[in-house]
Amino acid sequence: MSNDDDFSRWILGLPKAELHLHIEGSLEPDMMFALAQRNQVKLPYDSVEAVRAAYQFEDLQSFLDLYYAGADVLRTEQDFFDLCWAYLVRAKADGVVHAEIFFDPQTHTGRGIRFETVLDGLAAALKKGETELGISSRIIMCFLRHLSEDEAFKTLSQARPHASRIAGVGLDSSEKGNPPSNFARVFDACAALGWHLVAHAGEEGPPEYVLEALDVLKVERIDHGVRSESDPALMQRLARSRMPLTVCPLSNVKLRVFPDLASHNLKRMLDLGLNVTINSDDPAYFGGYVGENYLQVVHALNLGRDDVLRLARNSLESSFVSREVKAGWVKELQQHR
Ligand code: HPA
Ligand code: ZN
Repeated sequence: MSNDDDFSRWILGLPKAELHLHIEGSLEPDMMFALAQRNQVKLPYDSVEAVRAAYQFEDLQSFLDLYYAGADVLRTEQDFFDLCWAYLVRAKADGVVHAEIFFDPQTHTGRGIRFETVLDGLAAALKKGETELGISSRIIMCFLRHLSEDEAFKTLSQARPHASRIAGVGLDSSEKGNPPSNFARVFDACAALGWHLVAHAGEEGPPEYVLEALDVLKVERIDHGVRSESDPALMQRLARSRMPLTVCPLSNVKLRVFPDLASHNLKRMLDLGLNVTINSDDPAYFGGYVGENYLQVVHALNLGRDDVLRLARNSLESSFVSREVKAGWVKELQQHR
């Protein structure tokens, strides 16, 4: 048993929260095939290997095209349950004690699937995850930013009867040309429901979009945010305010935000005091769940034990749970020192 193996096992065993996970992005090719068969959906691939081979992306949009096409196999409440349960079992092996999962209702309602079919399936799996795996969770509903404000409002009215089962709202899909400010009014309406607010910003888009997410949408976390680095004043502000950034390193490399992990700015941001967390984004498409993101980043950026503890602690403290629950997790984390 080498020191490397011990270090890896220690990292995977640390209690951690995953705060940036699109549940549709945890659809593994095997399950895609199984669900296609179950629902008699024709896939444009001949084999699971052909699906994997297709996962070569030039940018965010080239990924989104495949991701939305893949989601077409998800039809029934059982499908959403199976999808979410498989994620939770996988997350458990990586030390995840708490998951805040995104879902994209419009990807499904746009093809005639009822909002309730999606939400009920996910919620049932999360409930089972709490009782059988000890993973607590929250659901965050995302608006697709390539669609209109009007369509976001329509989705909000479908969500309203279920407001108490939804912890927050996010903003995802094609970032460039779709600034956060387009969704100011619908985010205000979500805030009035008592929901938490987050948004993808500064993944491919400029630092100005991060500023809009903060100042116009009034978000509590920035999803990605890595492109803030070209604005030193913004970086200082993020550090001072301890604004959580849900960073997704393997995603950033797969979508060519950085040429490789060694060039990733995660360590630089951490050293500047930013509240950085590690997450998997769309693990079935990007080559690894949250544990693999930790391991590869630690290796590529030479992170030490204190860096890893800081990242795990940031994830727990940036979650949308009570102060008391966070304190309990942090105490447990400290026993791993
Ligand atoms: N960015 C924007 N939208 C998304 C992503 C992402 O990384 N993953 C799933 N939807
Ligand atoms: Zn994302």
